[in-house]
Amino acid sequence: MTEIPHHDIIRHLGHRRTVIGQAPGRVNLIGEHTDYSGGYVLPMVIPQTTAVAAAANADAASRAWSASMPHDQQQVRFVVGEEARAGAWVDYVQGASAVLRAAGHRVSGFDAVIRSEVPLGSGLSSSASLSVAVLRALRDLFQLPIDDVVLAGLARRIETDFIGVPVGVMDPIACSLGAANQALFLDTRDLSWQLVRIPSTAEFAVINSGISHSISTGSYRLRRQECDAATRLLGVRDLRDVADDDQRLDTLPDPLRKRARHIVSENGRVLGAVDALRKRDMARFGALMDGSHASLRDDYEVSLPEIDRMVEIARAQHGALGARITGGGFGGSIVVLTQAGQAARVAGAVAQSVRDELGLRPQILVPAPA
Ligand code: ADP
Ligand code: GAL
Repeated sequence: MTEIPHHDIIRHLGHRRTVIGQAPGRVNLIGEHTDYSGGYVLPMVIPQTTAVAAAANADAASRAWSASMPHDQQQVRFVVGEEARAGAWVDYVQGASAVLRAAGHRVSGFDAVIRSEVPLGSGLSSSASLSVAVLRALRDLFQLPIDDVVLAGLARRIETDFIGVPVGVMDPIACSLGAANQALFLDTRDLSWQLVRIPSTAEFAVINSGISHSISTGSYRLRRQECDAATRLLGVRDLRDVADDDQRLDTLPDPLRKRARHIVSENGRVLGAVDALRKRDMARFGALMDGSHASLRDDYEVSLPEIDRMVEIARAQHGALGARITGGGFGGSIVVLTQAGQAARVAGAVAQSVRDELGLRPQILVPAPA
C-alpha cells in the first residue's frame, strides 16, 4: 500500500474529511495486444500501487496534486461539471468525474492528492492504476453504488471516451479485479474472468528498462487499425475467431498478415499458458512466454533492440524459464519467469548487465525491493 504522508494531506486538503482510494499496477504475463480484438489476456497485479486521497470541495474550482510529476506540473485545476480535455495528467482526474456524471452519478467538487509507486509509461499501467484509484476514492467520498466490475468499465471510459486513446479492457480490469500471486485469465469478448493461482514452484521478476513508451503515440492506434483491417478482410467478427492453421491468413497483404498471425498465435499461447498454470507445468509456461516475445518482435513489431537484448540476457540466467516484453511495447518493462526462490537474483543480474552493457537505468519492480 502506498502511504500518503500526513503533511501532504494537511497541506492540500487541510482538516476536511478525507477518503483514500488505492489500486495496483499490473504486469501482463502473456496475451499482448489481444484485448482489442476480443482475445484472451493473462495479467497479474504488482505490489506497487497508486493512492489517491480526496476531500469534498465547495469552491468552484477543484485541485489535484501529484508527487509523480515534475515540480511545475504537480498542481492542476479543473471544474466538476465543466470537465474539458486538457491533454495532460489532470485528464485522468477530471475524466473520472466526467465519466461518473455521464453514467448518471451525483458528483460535486473535490480536491485530490496522489502518490504512486507505479513507474509512469513503463508498460505497468500507471494510468489505469490512477484511474481506478481516483474512481475508488470518489466512490467512497460520494457514496456511489458501484462494484469493482462496473468501476473497471468506467476507468476504461476515462481513457477511451474522455482522453480519446483507444485502449483495450485489460488494464482497468486487471487493476480493479486482480489479486496478489494470482493471474487473471480474462476473455475480453464476454469479459468473463477467473483468478488462477501461480504455483509455488515458480516466481516472476519484472524489470523496467527505463525506456519510456507513450501509448498515445501513433503506433498503438496504427496496430489497432491494422487489426481492424485484417478482421474485415477475413470476414470474421474478431481475430479471435480465426484458427491457427486457417489458410486465409496467408492471403492477407503484409503487414496485415504478420499482425493477424501474432494475434491468432498469441491467443493460442494464452490458452496454453492457462493450461500450463493449472498443470503446474512452468517450463511450458516459460516457453510460451519466449514464443510471445518472438511474435511481438517479428510479427507485431512492437519491441526495441534494447528490450530484445534485455530479454536475451534474462533467459541466459540460471533458473530462468522464459522472458518477454510486457505491456504496449516500444520500451517499458520485461517479465521473466523463474524457478521459485530465483527471481530476486535473476532480476539483480539482469539489471546489472543492462546497466553495464546497454547503459540503461533499469528498475526492479518484482520481487519488490525490501
Ligand atoms: P502506463 O503504461 O504507465 O499506463 P501511459 O502512457 O498509458 O503509461 O500513462 C502514463 C500517463 O498517465 C502519464 O503520462 C500521466 O499523464 C498519467 N499518470 C499515471 N500515473 C500518474 C500519477 N501518479 N500522477 C499523475 N499522472 C499520472
Ligand atoms: C496497453 C493497453 C492495453 C493493451 C496493451 C497491449 O497497455 O492499455 O489495453 O492493449 O497495451 O497488450
